[in-house]
Amino acid sequence: MTTVVIGAQWGDEGKGKIVDFLASQADDIVRFSGGANAGHTIVHGGTTYKLHLVPSGILYPDTQVLLGVGMVIDVASLFGELEELEQKGVRWRGRVHVSDRAHVVLPGYSEEDRELDTKRRRPIGTTGRGIGVAYARKAARDGLRVCDVVDDLAYRELPESERRYFEPYRDELSRMAIDLSEYMIARRGRRILFEGAQGVLLDLDLGTYPFVSSGTSAAAGAALGGGLGPRGIDRVLGVFKAYSTRVGNGPFPSEFRADRDGGLEEHIRERGAEYGATTGRPRRCGYLDLVALRYACRSNSIDGLVMTKLDVYDDAGRIGVCTGYRYGNQTLKTVPAGVRTLESVEPVIEEMPGWQEPLGDRRSFDELPAAARNYVQMIEDYVETPVDIISVGSDRSETIIRKEPWTQ
Ligand code: IMP
Repeated sequence: MTTVVIGAQWGDEGKGKIVDFLASQADDIVRFSGGANAGHTIVHGGTTYKLHLVPSGILYPDTQVLLGVGMVIDVASLFGELEELEQKGVRWRGRVHVSDRAHVVLPGYSEEDRELDTKRRRPIGTTGRGIGVAYARKAARDGLRVCDVVDDLAYRELPESERRYFEPYRDELSRMAIDLSEYMIARRGRRILFEGAQGVLLDLDLGTYPFVSSGTSAAAGAALGGGLGPRGIDRVLGVFKAYSTRVGNGPFPSEFRADRDGGLEEHIRERGAEYGATTGRPRRCGYLDLVALRYACRSNSIDGLVMTKLDVYDDAGRIGVCTGYRYGNQTLKTVPAGVRTLESVEPVIEEMPGWQEPLGDRRSFDELPAAARNYVQMIEDYVETPVDIISVGSDRSETIIRKEPWTQ
C-alpha cells in the first residue's frame, strides 16, 4: 500500500510528527520534492532531531529511506545531517538511498538564491537554501544530477572546483544512488510512505504564485518525484494545523491583525512554538482558513485529514475560523488564482466557543470536550473530508486515531 502525506496549508503543519508516527509501520519512506528548505523537528525517545533532507523514517532501524527524483539535494548538508544522526546513535548506512535522477544544489546557489530575491519585483522571502536556483537550472536543462556525480565519465567532465567539492562524499553517494522506479517495482506490495515537503499553498503550480517554493508539494508530485506512475498512489493524507501559519512573504487572508485580534498572534506563536525550523524566523499566524483547506482537499484528492496542534487552543475563550473571502460585494469560497485578488480580500471570520481545558491526555475522539468535537466536525462539514487523526501534543503518544492510517 502507498500513502502520501502532504501539507495542506503553507508548510509547517506538523508533518514530521505524523510521518514519524506512520513510519513506525512502514517499510519505506520517500521524500519526493524540495530540499534543505524544509525542516522537520521530531521528538523521539526524549531526543530531538531536526531533519532537513533525510526522511524522518530514519529513526526506525528497519525502515529504508529514499530521497526521490523530485528533490534537489545539497550533498554537503545531507552528509552533515547523516553525521549528526550517527552521533545520536542512529545507524543509517545501507538504509539511505538517493535517486540517481535527483538534482544537486551546488555551493554558490544559496547566495544566488538570496541575491535573486532582492532583485525580484516582489521578493518572496526565500529560505536561501539554493532551492529555487537548482529547480531553475533543472528547467533550463543546465542542472547537475546525482548520476553526474557518481558516474565516472560524467564526473571527469566536471570542473575541478566541483570535483573538489564532491570528492569527500562521492564514494558514499555512489553506494546510495539507485534507479528509483526499479526500486519501487521491487518493493511492490510493501507499505510505502511518501513524505511531502512544504504545503499545497507553496506548491509551484497550485500555490499562491509567485509566493511559492519551486518544487512540487502537491500529492501528484509523489508519483513523478517518488518513482511511481499516477495509478501507484493508494491514499492521500493532508496535514493541517488547528490554525494557520505562513513563513516568508505572500498573501495570507486569515492572518491575525493587531487592530482586530489583540495579542492573538504572539499568544499562538508562543504556545505553538511557531518559529521556522530552518531559518528560526517567527512564523506569521492566523485563523484556520477553511477556504484554503477545502481548496487543498479538492485539488489533491485528499482522502483523510490529520489535524495537529489542537491543544494550542486549549485556553482560548472563543475560536475563529475563516469561512469565506469578501471581495467587493461577493463572498469567494475558493482560492482565487490572482495574488492581487487574494491580497485584497477580507476574511469572513466565524467564531465558536473554546473548550478551556487541557487536551494533552485525551486519546479518543469521545474523550474530547463537546466544543473541541464541534470544532472538528465543523471543519469536516466545510471541507467535505474526514479528520482521521488529531494531534494534541508534540509527543507521539499525544495522538487521537479515528481511522487507522494504513487502511484503505
Ligand atoms: P524557498 O523554497 O526557500 O525558495 O522559499 C520560498 C517560499 O517558501 C518562502 O516564503 C519560504 O519561507 C517558504 N518555504 C520554503 N520551505 C518551507 C517550509 O518547509 N516550510 C514553510 N515555508 C517554507
